[in-house]
Amino acid sequence: MLLIRDTGLGGLLLALGLSTVNAHSWVEQLTVIAPNGTFVGAPGYPRGNVQRTVAGFSDVEMTYLIPPDGRANQSQILPTDKMCKDTQELYNQTEGNPRLQASPGAAIALRFQENGHVTLPQTQPGKPPNRGTVYVYGTTEPKADEKFLDIHRVWNRDGTGGDRRGVLLSEQNFDDGRCYQINSGNISEHRQVEFPHVADQTMGADLWCQQDIALPANAPSGKPYTLYWVWDWPTAPHVTAALPNGKQEIYTTCIDVDVVENADLTHTYVKAGAAGYVEDQSLDRAAIPSQFAEIMDTRPAPSGSSESVPSSTASTSASPEPATKTTFLTIYKTIYPSSTPV
Ligand SMILES: *[C@@H]1O[C@H](CO)[C@@H](O)[C@H](O)[C@H]1NC(C)=O
Ligand SMILES: *[C@@H]1O[C@H](CO)[C@@H](O)[C@H](O)[C@H]1NC(C)=O
Ligand SMILES: *[C@@H]1O[C@H](CO)[C@@H](O)[C@H](O)[C@H]1NC(C)=O
Ligand SMILES: *[C@@H]1O[C@H](CO)[C@@H](O)[C@H](O)[C@H]1NC(C)=O
Repeated sequence: MLLIRDTGLGGLLLALGLSTVNAHSWVEQLTVIAPNGTFVGAPGYPRGNVQRTVAGFSDVEMTYLIPPDGRANQSQILPTDKMCKDTQELYNQTEGNPRLQASPGAAIALRFQENGHVTLPQTQPGKPPNRGTVYVYGTTEPKADEKFLDIHRVWNRDGTGGDRRGVLLSEQNFDDGRCYQINSGNISEHRQVEFPHVADQTMGADLWCQQDIALPANAPSGKPYTLYWVWDWPTAPHVTAALPNGKQEIYTTCIDVDVVENADLTHTYVKAGAAGYVEDQSLDRAAIPSQFAEIMDTRPAPSGSSESVPSSTASTSASPEPATKTTFLTIYKTIYPSSTPV
């Protein structure tokens, strides 16, 4: 029997204009991606994970907002604001929610629900057309009281940013071009036809969003590697009377992955690029082709020096423009063929 445990009701309420629903997004699970683009192996979970199926579950158990509700100036991020939710400070796996096991250099999908932020954009005026930008930072030296401003837009691809403890691993659009929640909005209805999938126990009838990354090829085995997922989703000024100055709105999820040298997992380290991506595979367990190609193209050679890492994205990482804008425009044209950017 199918268990629908998504937030389809929230989307429906939003579609009906009852926008009291405040369901935001976090990384729900991680999966290793095989060289052919298919998810393989057991999923892993963030720190302090609470499954949606737990009795009495509420989104606030997994969402972490910066700046927090109640700050007088909603555009202000303080040097004391922490990167991680209080239940996600360092190595806190809850029962039944183990860390992902992955080999150095492995391709990994981080999946999250769009909760209407992609398919019902009219409910949040002033948000960016890519539905915000998602970033993944990585480090082998996490701190329990990690500060947000020490990392976001500071750590870079080369690892030369800030205190140099970590790197920017990925920067993508929140809208991966495919994902949807089932609702009666035209974007969802369009995507349900274009990207059909069989409802399953994990996603229900929705198709979750994903951000595909690669672990550094030199991530040390036998210890956890830490990922900070950041969804940067600002509201522009002068769009709504309620927010004349706009606001910052950022959500994070903090995650550890066990790096293991394991024969069964090393096959997932694609040395030969993304040529093996199988087209027309089930969307339930498939990487996003453009993201998968990008991580395969930009990963350093296993024995390579840091010079071999293309720095095109790093050079723009401090700019407010998403480095993946070109990718987004391509996706945008595909998904919204009838809309002409003005
Ligand atoms: C991709 O490779 C994995 C691991 O070898 C395999 O389980 C999966 O069935 C393959 N997917 C496709 C679409 O061939
Ligand atoms: C670990 O996570 C669980 C679930 O979010 C939380 O209840 C618990 O307080 C956390 N433990 C620590 C030490 O933060
Ligand atoms: C709110 O914070 C932002 C960012 O620090 C700043 O630019 C702005 O001037 C502040 N607004 C007020 C009214 O203090
Ligand atoms: C959805 O409707 C909006 C507003 O009418 C329109 O601008 C947009 O192009 C439509 N999108 C799709 C995918 O049909």
